[in-house]
Amino acid sequence: MKTLRIDLADRSYDILIGRNLLSRLGDHLTHLKRTRRAVVVTNPEINRLYGSTLFSALKTAGLEVQCVEIPEGESHKTLQDAQTVYDYLIQNQYDRNTLLVALGGGVIGDLTGFVAATFLRGVPYIQVPTTLLSQVDSSVGGKTAVNHPQGKNLIGAFYQPRLVAIDLDTLSSLPPEEFRAGMAEIIKYGVIEDPRLFTFLEQNSEKILGQDTECLATIIETSCAIKAKVVERDERESSYRMVLNFGHTIGHAIEALTHYAQFKHGEAVAIGMVYAAKLSCQLSMCSNEVVQKIEALVERFGLPTRLPDFPVEEYIESMYRDKKAHDKNIRFILVKDLGTVEIVDRVSEDDLKKVLTF
Ligand code: NAD
Ligand code: GLY
Repeated sequence: MKTLRIDLADRSYDILIGRNLLSRLGDHLTHLKRTRRAVVVTNPEINRLYGSTLFSALKTAGLEVQCVEIPEGESHKTLQDAQTVYDYLIQNQYDRNTLLVALGGGVIGDLTGFVAATFLRGVPYIQVPTTLLSQVDSSVGGKTAVNHPQGKNLIGAFYQPRLVAIDLDTLSSLPPEEFRAGMAEIIKYGVIEDPRLFTFLEQNSEKILGQDTECLATIIETSCAIKAKVVERDERESSYRMVLNFGHTIGHAIEALTHYAQFKHGEAVAIGMVYAAKLSCQLSMCSNEVVQKIEALVERFGLPTRLPDFPVEEYIESMYRDKKAHDKNIRFILVKDLGTVEIVDRVSEDDLKKVLTF
């Protein structure tokens, strides 16, 4: 097992990465001295797969454990679903020492974190991420949120977990398309911060897609270490943390225009990364070779690279509506070279149109 530490003063915590971690989770909760009662938040399928292992581990650690199930899917990351958890906690008189445990992908993690941030003005929670995307991205860094009918993640808080426990074994049950979607975020880390990770992905794609344990451990550890470093430098996304949004400006527009129904988040980000690279090249910030390398790697992991067919004006309008549009400028993370990106606020609509209609 590998332990990474994310250093955020009194909000610091460990990220554990290993096999067979769920059943040993109790050994890693000794720092939560006041905790007597835990509530696991999960969905029915993940509960069926991993609930009993996790419950036994928590009970062995001396905790009273209960569970709240939220139905599967992004459409259940809402205030109403948060209300289900609040109702349970209030009806059963849970207090401030209650530990919430998010067992699932990013939907469960974001929702549980949001409830933890707000119930009784904040209770401790831990992340037990079970999708590749949540293991390398959403479980680390303390962004919690629920969706509003007007947009994703519009209601939320920065609130750090007390532990992230990444059990690589949970990936064995993940549908292949979910695994590939998580790979998009790992490619992102290579582009923004780590050319060696990028090369590792190029050279080991088959082994990674075959879920070779050593390769998985390497890319998950590297990704979490990069995310931890970025979050340590800019926890609340005042500027630098925005580099984590490489590929997301166009990705979010793709998701919105297709009503969140046609592409998984990682798939939309994959297309967004290719077009952000093309935009960088259009602005003479990077070479065409960099664009080709990013596109080839995205393709190698079975991810889409072409924009769905919408008028360019609709893309631009959607990007202006995105919550990350800044002072009426659309913000892009553009690539200079593999491992080096820049946050750019002023991209002309002409340049953007040229790239989006390419
Ligand atoms: P998800 O949570 O919807 O999980 C995808 C699917 O996989 C679901 O059907 C889930 O039930 C299933 N699943 C989960 N683990 C499984 C397993 N081990 N075996 C079999 N099936 C399993 O999707 P996701 O991609 O993990 O997360 C997406 C969410 O994360 C979005 O809501 C997004 O906004 C959020 N997100 C948050 C951050 C952040 O920093 N907080 C970052 C990126 C994404
Ligand atoms: N997923 C982007 C971030 O955590 O900032």
